[in-house]
Amino acid sequence: MGYATLGGEELHFLVEPSPSDAVIRVESLEKTYQPSSGPVTVFRHLHLTVRRGERVALVGASGAGKSTLLHLLGGLDRATAGRVLLDGTDLATLSDRNLADFRNRHIGFVWQIQSLLPEFTALENVMMPLLVRGTSPAAATEKARARLAEVGLLDRQSHLSGELSGGEQQRVVLARALVTDPLFLLADEPTGNLDYQTADKIVELLESLHVRHQLTSVFVTHSRTFAARCDRVLELEQGRLIESPDPSQPASAERPVWYQGLPPNGGYRPEP
Ligand SMILES: Nc1ncnc2c1ncn2[C@@H]1O[C@H](COP(=O)(O)OP(=O)(O)O)[C@@H](O)[C@H]1O
Ligand SMILES: [Mg+2]
Repeated sequence: MGYATLGGEELHFLVEPSPSDAVIRVESLEKTYQPSSGPVTVFRHLHLTVRRGERVALVGASGAGKSTLLHLLGGLDRATAGRVLLDGTDLATLSDRNLADFRNRHIGFVWQIQSLLPEFTALENVMMPLLVRGTSPAAATEKARARLAEVGLLDRQSHLSGELSGGEQQRVVLARALVTDPLFLLADEPTGNLDYQTADKIVELLESLHVRHQLTSVFVTHSRTFAARCDRVLELEQGRLIESPDPSQPASAERPVWYQGLPPNGGYRPEP
């Protein structure tokens, strides 16, 4: 049985994900970029299955292809070969317009780099995915306010992003990612730009939101502690995806490349 606490409220889930319930299927995936300097194959023949409700950490050295894989999983980029199936839908079969609609309906994204629209308030930023899909402003406002309350930021709803701290901005990004009730949460180094304490709070929030919204999540991270708290740890290394048998250990225990050179806290900057 899984549980999490959110705002003091304890949430219990009696149903474990069924082993056959694969909601992410990656089959023989290849991505080759074609810059003017010549083709770059990041990976090929990559396979991955993620079950409903799983929380997967994706680790690997810088340049290993973590963001590339996350973009393909989220339908932000097209594969060179192979397939990505999300909840049974082969993303390659969707037109650009239908792919954008699929993303809007089913995928919540969180990026390391500040991604709020600076000229809009926190509330307007969170409303945006709903307005894009044609939800009425009144309904979008109500939903966005509920999500801001969940991340503890309702009292900042009228602030522009520049008037929020880094941690608060990331909370708004989380509220925006979940405003559409997605099936999937994809996060690329969601704590990478935050100090240690703030990063810890964001990790706790990610974990409780994952449970509360019954998400299937893939988190790219450099933090060993964050990765160890996930259900599975997958390491991308030289175009291969290696599964760690023990999530509390890095995938290649003898050559833990994904945190080589980083301090134990995963490289967070200390508080000034
Ligand atoms: N748009 C692009 N054009 C050409 N090469 C790219 C592009 N995006 C990423 N790459 C290359 O693909 C590799 C993987 O990059 P990336 O997925 O960003 O790695 P990571 O997120 O693990 O640091 C790198 O060698 C990078 O230089
Ligand atoms: Mg990256």
